[in-house]
Amino acid sequence: MSRSLVCICNMVTENEISSALKKGARSTRDIQHITRAGTSCGRCLVVIDSLVEEYLAKLPEDPQQRIDFQN
Ligand code: FES
Repeated sequence: MSRSLVCICNMVTENEISSALKKGARSTRDIQHITRAGTSCGRCLVVIDSLVEEYLAKLPEDPQQRIDFQN
């Protein structure tokens, strides 16, 4: 994973998003909640969406791995 900056507004890197995904984030909303990426101007949301989709596509099907960060 790259250390490149994904969200300039909130200074969130690709590494931080990757780390959130590895800890159980499963949606762009989860990433926003955990890292604050995408919570200002929203220009980075397309990149966050694609990082989430890429990560989820590589995961085996296991609903037990879903962690709800909204509670
Ligand atoms: S660049 Fe991410 S919210 Fe503005």
